Amino acid sequence: MLEFPKVANAIMNALHEDEVEIIEELLQACKEGSVNRVDQLMDELFQDMEIHFSTEEEMMREFEFFAYPMHKAEHDSMRKEFKEFYTTWKENKDVGRVESFLKDRFIPWLLLHIARWDSTTAMHLGD
Ligand SMILES: [Fe+2]
Ligand SMILES: [Fe+2]
Repeated sequence: MLEFPKVANAIMNALHEDEVEIIEELLQACKEGSVNRVDQLMDELFQDMEIHFSTEEEMMREFEFFAYPMHKAEHDSMRKEFKEFYTTWKENKDVGRVESFLKDRFIPWLLLHIARWDSTTAMHLGD
């Protein structure tokens, strides 16, 4: 299981756990070279990431969290980057590129984002 930092809010931890599960299944599918399974899981991750980000944004708005614009900007930059990568995947179905995108870009980004942004946000929102 991929280790990710726990934050002081149960909803956020649950969102992260769901996302990490999909990422792990996706890495496994890459290893097996199963294009159909990778395609299915790329769709799932794309949808899940939107649920993850928009749920956090909703919580921040509800609590009028002061750093909302900065935290949302971080989400928006990954939304854009992921969408571009997703579009490329749909065109070339290159499994190796999915694996390197996850390992070199998405997972490190996610872990850093949780440690830097979600953990501070969670401390303000509480449980
Ligand atoms: Fe998060
Ligand atoms: Fe976040």
